[in-house]
Amino acid sequence: MSRRILIAGNWKMNMRAESGASLAKGIVDAVGKSPAVEVVLCPPSVYLSGVADAVVGTPVELGAQNLYAAEDGAFTGEVNASMLTDVGCRFVILGHSERRQLMGETDACVAKKLHAALAGNLVPIVCVGETLEQREADDTESVIETQIRGSLEGLDEARAANIVIAYEPVWAIGTGKTASKEQAEAVHAFIRELLGKMFSTEVAEQIRIQYGGSVKPGNAEELLSQPNIDGALVGGASLKVDDFAGIINAAPSA
Ligand code: PGA
Repeated sequence: MSRRILIAGNWKMNMRAESGASLAKGIVDAVGKSPAVEVVLCPPSVYLSGVADAVVGTPVELGAQNLYAAEDGAFTGEVNASMLTDVGCRFVILGHSERRQLMGETDACVAKKLHAALAGNLVPIVCVGETLEQREADDTESVIETQIRGSLEGLDEARAANIVIAYEPVWAIGTGKTASKEQAEAVHAFIRELLGKMFSTEVAEQIRIQYGGSVKPGNAEELLSQPNIDGALVGGASLKVDDFAGIINAAPSA
């Protein structure tokens, strides 16, 4: 089963209207008309429309960094799935470790968002990952299993193949420390096996599992050539055209 490599740029709370539009245009030019991999840009929500204008009609796709799991209503400051599709999003990042740590998002809250995303025809990118303390205590697999089972609670097999998982060890995010290709591949293989138990082997083979955490042009190729690593969720290096294009070009074509 070949899974198409998915490279997503998580701009986090960075860029402004003008710099974001020019970054998006630069990526569109670098990607060309028929890239071997799928490329998604996830700007801050206020800039989604501007970036949508820059990528419309190109293979580069748009994603949001979060959503609120409710229909329209009295939810001051929030944005829901249908607003995101309205401005051109196809993807949404859910349960990023920064949201788990800084905004108190729990697995149950991520699961609610997952169902809202799927109901709104968005592809959820569900983030999981252990802290350094948990890794050192040899708890990585149990932490990941709890996060995946909790964040995917209530997901049925028919819809499971549409989701994306991003394995992002917290200790590797924004730190310049990357998991080695062996460390990353071991967790990805564990996640795929778990998905096989939760759904079916067939579905698990279709689910893309991205790696995230200090991915750069220099380490992208070795990470992306691992059998269970199907893409990258890129933070810092997605803010510069050359770095992000370097990662895209390092991906082996499926
Ligand atoms: P980083 O961030 O590439 O800057 O480590 C990755 C992420 O948080 O998605």
